[in-house]
Amino acid sequence: MPRVIYTHPTGEHREVEVPVGQNLMLGAAAHGIEGIVGDCGGAMSCATCHVIVDAAFAALLPAPDDTESQMLDFTAAPREANSRLSCQIVMSDRLDGIAIRIADPQV
Ligand code: FES
Repeated sequence: MPRVIYTHPTGEHREVEVPVGQNLMLGAAAHGIEGIVGDCGGAMSCATCHVIVDAAFAALLPAPDDTESQMLDFTAAPREANSRLSCQIVMSDRLDGIAIRIADPQV
């Protein structure tokens, strides 16, 4: 199963397996990883699942669509170059080892 490395703002990190097809917001919730709120359950209406993706992996992701991009303009923590909504990142074998930093704050 492909792995994700979630890094907290403190620098603490955890590597966990996330099933192919599951988004990284739900992957964090399934492993009890704190810091990703995910208030809307992945409906792309809360922007509380903000993460910053490692540049090498960000290049493998499809560009954010207009709705995600607009949501990223209203995150609690400032948008960065590789900011994404983790509910919109769907795990695949290609993303094995993806490293994401959890934005702080989320609300
Ligand atoms: S969980 Fe609400 S936008 Fe991602």
